Amino acid sequence: MHCRRSLGKQNTKRVYGRRTGRPLNKERQVALDELLPVLQIPSDKLTEKANLPPQELFNDPTSAVWLEIGFGSGEHLTALMHDHPDYGFIGAEPFVNGMAAFLKDIKDKPHDNVRVLMDDAMMIANSLSDECLDGIYVLNPDPWHKARHHKRRIISPKNLDQFARILRTGGQLIMSTDVEYLAEWMLEAATAHPSFTQTPESAKDCHTTPPGWIKTRYEQKGAKGSSRMSYLIFKRL
Ligand SMILES: C[S@@+](CC[C@H](N)C(=O)[O-])C[C@H]1O[C@@H](n2cnc3c(N)ncnc32)[C@H](O)[C@@H]1O
Repeated sequence: MHCRRSLGKQNTKRVYGRRTGRPLNKERQVALDELLPVLQIPSDKLTEKANLPPQELFNDPTSAVWLEIGFGSGEHLTALMHDHPDYGFIGAEPFVNGMAAFLKDIKDKPHDNVRVLMDDAMMIANSLSDECLDGIYVLNPDPWHKARHHKRRIISPKNLDQFARILRTGGQLIMSTDVEYLAEWMLEAATAHPSFTQTPESAKDCHTTPPGWIKTRYEQKGAKGSSRMSYLIFKRL
């Protein structure tokens, strides 16, 4: 199958969800074949030794750098790239169909301000140098319902340590979910972390959509159901 051929070397142990889905249509396959080699962060930069300044990844200087973890089909990331052409964006999504959909969407638009990884986002987080990011989005992460799978959740004390290390002072960690008990888990973990504080607006009311919020595909679909969203916005102290 086309989509399997393009996967390349991957860190299979660290991604628990699915990596492939239905065979890609031709346009998505072409976008994946042509753009992924151009925009993917080279593996020699992913040292996981906290020594990668993100400026090294971009051709032009950036006024800020943001990371989006698990961008799905990338609608949110595409909108950010369009709204902030002077920022650099790094997106991680291990699901090949999501990556291909994103690359197809940006193929005919300006896209030099994004770099991607089709693998575990923590490979990027562990590689980036200290205090180099302005913000991190973790939107609708997989909830991993079963207790024995909770250690797979992307928001964990260990990963929060890395996010605290790579965010600059005042940098934002923006999390969302429509799963009530995942919201509680993420709120508890980030609140307990000594390097993060919830913004007063989010602490006062985390269920109202923040101004200027871009809805992801997952959120748009979920919003048809009865569940309510939580928007958990923290700052690096
Ligand atoms: C429920 S989906 C949400 C997608 C998107 N953020 C949205 O709101 O539409 C969760 C996404 O996280 C991705 N994901 C899972 N583990 C990941 C990891 N270790 N690093 C980066 N992304 C991951 C999945 O492939 C999936 O696309």
